[in-house]
Amino acid sequence: MTDLSSLIEQSAQACARARRGVALTGAGISIESGIPPFRGKGGLWEKIDPMKYAHIEALERNPAEVWQVLFLGIADHLTKAAPNAGHKGLHRLEQMGVLQTIITQNVDGLHQAAGSGDVIEFHGTHARLRCMSCHQSALWHTVSLEVIPPRCGCGGFLRPDVVMFGELIDTALLQRSQTLAATCDVMLVVGTSATVEPAAYLPVLAKHNSAFIIEINPEPTPLTHRISDVTLLGPAGEMMDRLVNKVADLRHGD
Ligand code: APR
Repeated sequence: MTDLSSLIEQSAQACARARRGVALTGAGISIESGIPPFRGKGGLWEKIDPMKYAHIEALERNPAEVWQVLFLGIADHLTKAAPNAGHKGLHRLEQMGVLQTIITQNVDGLHQAAGSGDVIEFHGTHARLRCMSCHQSALWHTVSLEVIPPRCGCGGFLRPDVVMFGELIDTALLQRSQTLAATCDVMLVVGTSATVEPAAYLPVLAKHNSAFIIEINPEPTPLTHRISDVTLLGPAGEMMDRLVNKVADLRHGD
């Protein structure tokens, strides 16, 4: 059995035993759907300076420029994207009763599009816009983008309902995510560089509460060999396919 096969076997055994599994996902799980990551090869932050365009102060200073440079580019990728085998694999683990909830840092809605029911959008969503003055929200596809930035009925500017640098995570989402991390028995960490807090601390919290941590990423991260019990060094789609098929075999073998 190859080293990767034995790691998949080990991961599948942990998943087959799991009753309170949680997943934490990042941009890497959506790369195979055509959405570029933020860091690493082809990363968005290699092309634009996040502190210049993805910080709340930049948006408040010049909303038109942030819309043109950041939001419209991201929206263009999102409208063309569909769930891939990584998203679908996590949904199958939900259907098997292995996974309870997915905590995602992504704003692309692809977990819900894959059928996942309990998704915490830790950094918000690009599917919804919010007024910067009256805080009224509107679905992206209901708003005209003839004029950029689009305006709310109150005259204020609309912005995607995402968490920008310099903004806080919604308190209720943060508390629920921390409780899930502290009580889960398995955490699947898929496609995140594990470098942005407070999301990056969730696997540490899970580990400190004796959860089995399975990391899926073609590259090592700060979690690898420190927090992760197993790291499947490969792309999310292929690794999820192999893992889910092995869990299904073990569960049928029960
Ligand atoms: N499958 C799985 N993971 C992959 C794949 C793949 N096919 N290809 C690349 N990766 C990994 C990279 O190795 C990297 O570790 O995906 C990760 C992407 O890292 P980031 O771009 O930093 O994405 P993420 O961890 O989600 O960023 C966290 O930072 O800029 C903010 O708000 C933004 O939510 C984002 C947060």
